[in-house]
Amino acid sequence: MLKGILNYAHYLLEESIEKGEKVIDATCGNGNDTLFLSRIVGEDGHVYAFDVQEEAIAATRKALINNTRTNVSLIHDSHENIADYINEKEIGGAIFNLGYLPKSDKSIITKGDTTVNAIDVIVNLLKKGRLIVLVVYHGHEGGKEEKETLLRYLLHLDQKKFNVLRYGFINQQNDPPFILAVQKK
Ligand SMILES: C[S@@+](CC[C@H](N)C(=O)[O-])C[C@H]1O[C@@H](n2cnc3c(N)ncnc32)[C@H](O)[C@@H]1O
Repeated sequence: MLKGILNYAHYLLEESIEKGEKVIDATCGNGNDTLFLSRIVGEDGHVYAFDVQEEAIAATRKALINNTRTNVSLIHDSHENIADYINEKEIGGAIFNLGYLPKSDKSIITKGDTTVNAIDVIVNLLKKGRLIVLVVYHGHEGGKEEKETLLRYLLHLDQKKFNVLRYGFINQQNDPPFILAVQKK
């Protein structure tokens, strides 16, 4: 069966991440992906969750408390500074849910250059066979630029070292979101 975009993003991570691993939510927003990752790595694993907005950090903290999850570090900073916060040798996977925080300030958006900088750091930490999953929303102002910057970067990742997948529905109207997934070989 074909899965919707968010379901497929979670499916890819659930299939690849193992209990006890360290993983990254690069854009925690309202905390849905952080909560999901927290459950799949279990109590012995850990999630590093980033967001530039205090509002998003607070919303994610609330979601974690409501669901009694304790295996998460919430980091109020840009994901391009990941290296300042993560002292792990290996990461089991990462998700970027791009764009703006739903029902919030639409001018605070992820940007191509910083997203690419963060991916550049994470690919070096990623375990072999594992994934960085990006959910790309591009209908908002600034979304096209980010999409183009990302595609330029990912199209040229060395195929001897990485597989790069694009998944999306090509007959949907109004700039439907799609997935880009980078697998380290
Ligand atoms: C689509 S939302 C994320 C949704 C979230 N994953 C969830 O499950 O609710 C995108 C988020 O990226 C955040 N963001 C924008 N630029 C960022 C950056 N450079 N580093 C980290 N987060 C960023 C925004 O503040 C926003 O909360």
